[in-house]
Amino acid sequence: MLRDHWYALLESREVPAGRPVGVTRLDRRMVFWRGPDGVVRCVHDCCCHRGASLAAGELRGGGLACPFHGFVHQGDGRVSLIPANGRAAPVGDQYRVEAWPVREAHGFIWLWFGEDREELPPLPFFEDLAEPGWSWGSAVDDWPIHYTRAMENQLDVVHLPFVHRRSIGRGVGTVVHGPLVRQQGVSIRFWVQNVQDDGQVVAKRPDQIGQEDAGVELEFRFGNVWQNKLGPKFRVMLAFVPVDADNTRIYLRVYQRFVTVPLIAGLVNWVANIFNLRILREDKAVVLTQQPRRTHLKMGEKLIPGDMPIVAFRRYRAERLGE
Ligand code: FES
Ligand SMILES: [Fe+2]
Repeated sequence: MLRDHWYALLESREVPAGRPVGVTRLDRRMVFWRGPDGVVRCVHDCCCHRGASLAAGELRGGGLACPFHGFVHQGDGRVSLIPANGRAAPVGDQYRVEAWPVREAHGFIWLWFGEDREELPPLPFFEDLAEPGWSWGSAVDDWPIHYTRAMENQLDVVHLPFVHRRSIGRGVGTVVHGPLVRQQGVSIRFWVQNVQDDGQVVAKRPDQIGQEDAGVELEFRFGNVWQNKLGPKFRVMLAFVPVDADNTRIYLRVYQRFVTVPLIAGLVNWVANIFNLRILREDKAVVLTQQPRRTHLKMGEKLIPGDMPIVAFRRYRAERLGE
């Protein structure tokens, strides 16, 4: 798991007021809840006393009370009350669980997984999708595979006319020019252009194409979000949530701003998502067959120029993981 990144881990609607929510994320048991102010907190879902799950506890005293012996844990991980010692007794600093900084924005709950910093970097959400006018609908799909395979599938610009030959890839050319890849900070942007193979054409190298004739633009941002800029008014956005070493949850969203009447927009987004989920399951059917289950920079796969976005992804990770 890459440290020192923001991860979109849940949708806002999944953490209601009034009760804690226990989930596995980033290979850890975590519990999320909203404080009296509505702000979301997250701590390790394992009581510091004797290891019970806090997710079955109750919200009390501004924090979360363990169901076993009532220790109240606050959002910073500290225990504020040990009932057996008496409310008047001080609580030592050693009574605490791990806590993570959390932000809520764009309908997601984001968690900073990394070192404590005075000032955390901005959320890696897409600025253009944060503009007013967009509406979105979402769907969820669980993939029993390591998140690197799931993410790389959306960096794979070669598979379209094969995996999606009966849907969005029908008739799409098999030859891939470029792709052009631009990497900056946590962002990998890439442009792809597919052309028909007339038996004469050879795929152009990235330096032989300009951004203007480079076709569709896609972008991945570490830790875990991606968008396909299908048009100025229509986007597909994904969040790949690492659950554990063998499981990834994908939040799939359609963003559009050509229908603005709320009820009709809701219906359009819902229908578009059914379609997109179908496309995503075409990907899933192939990705779940991939071996090994997770990827590394030097793993012996025989990549081609069309795989450049995947190489950029693996390099970024390898540098930070010290591989
Ligand atoms: S195990 Fe949580 S209070 Fe004892
Ligand atoms: Fe695909």
